[in-house]
Amino acid sequence: MKPIYSRIVATGGYLPERILSNRDLEQMVETSDAWIFARTGIRSRHIAAPGEKTVDMAEAAARQALADAGLNAADLDLIIVATTTPDQIFPSTACLLQARLGNRGAPAFDIQAVCTGFIYALATADRFIRSGGARHALVVGVESMSHIVDWTDRGTCILFGDGAGAVVLSAGDQPGIISTHIHADGAYADLLQVPGGETRIAMQGNAVFRVAVRTLGEIVQETLAANALTPAEIDWLVPHQANIRIIEATADKLGLPMERVVTTVEHHGNTSAASVPLALDEAARRGCFQPRQRLLLEAFGGGFTWGSALLRWG
Ligand code: UT7
Repeated sequence: MKPIYSRIVATGGYLPERILSNRDLEQMVETSDAWIFARTGIRSRHIAAPGEKTVDMAEAAARQALADAGLNAADLDLIIVATTTPDQIFPSTACLLQARLGNRGAPAFDIQAVCTGFIYALATADRFIRSGGARHALVVGVESMSHIVDWTDRGTCILFGDGAGAVVLSAGDQPGIISTHIHADGAYADLLQVPGGETRIAMQGNAVFRVAVRTLGEIVQETLAANALTPAEIDWLVPHQANIRIIEATADKLGLPMERVVTTVEHHGNTSAASVPLALDEAARRGCFQPRQRLLLEAFGGGFTWGSALLRWG
């Protein structure tokens, strides 16, 4: 029997209309545009409108990806949503999205791995497709981080933004997704969390930063080694957009020039599970990726969780 692979056939993205700039934040907490930009590379982020829900953003990104794929919602036989900020405890955001799109019967579920959520969801959908369990999967990363940010904590409120990114994965006879690698270590839970009974992010930023740089360096090496590739054979790095200094450190370890790294952090901030699919969508729409180029996606987040995906574009 011929092997089945999964392949990204379309992307979609959605960013809320309202933009919150560093200048706006200067009015809210003791900070400055210069400090934020120098330490994070962020100038602005998008914030959901009052009443705008996580599922609204997911739907916008999903509809764009479906239209680009030339598929109807009824064609989907798997829906996975990566989010840490669902509108309700249940039903899952994936089920709410399924109803919005008008798909009935496909399995639909959420994955919660914070900023690594999209990579976890992609790895899961890839396994469904490879094993013959699905032919067309919708994978969405969406976050309303503004709902769980402590707007009085200057160490965290400057970092996060809202948005959604989506991909359609379809079965094919060649990769597509070459390999995925996902990990977690719950021993680090205390460094980045919404503590039990609370609703706001608490983060030891500098400690998170250091583990993120080390761990992302390891995951990209693991991915290259698993596929016997050298960094020179990677065409694009599509990293989680948490902090430009973390992105630069990972690119540096790979010896990749920043021209081959997709960065959206300046205008998106950290949109957690939405950051990688939004970066993918933005770069794809700009025409950055050529057919069959190799892309390396990576992310790191609360848990800690981390992961990567190596794929061929188009
Ligand atoms: O998605 C994965 C999850 N999150 C991350 O990856 C975030 C990882 N961490 C970071 O990106 C960085 O640690 C931050 C951007 C959050 C902070 O940068 P840092 O270089 O690690 O700064 P720091 O926390 O060591 O703080 C340095 C100083 C402190 O003042 P003192 O103690 O030196 O007087 C902070 O109080 O900067 C101060 N500070 C600020 N100053 C102006 C912290 N936040 C701000 C601020 N404006 N917004």
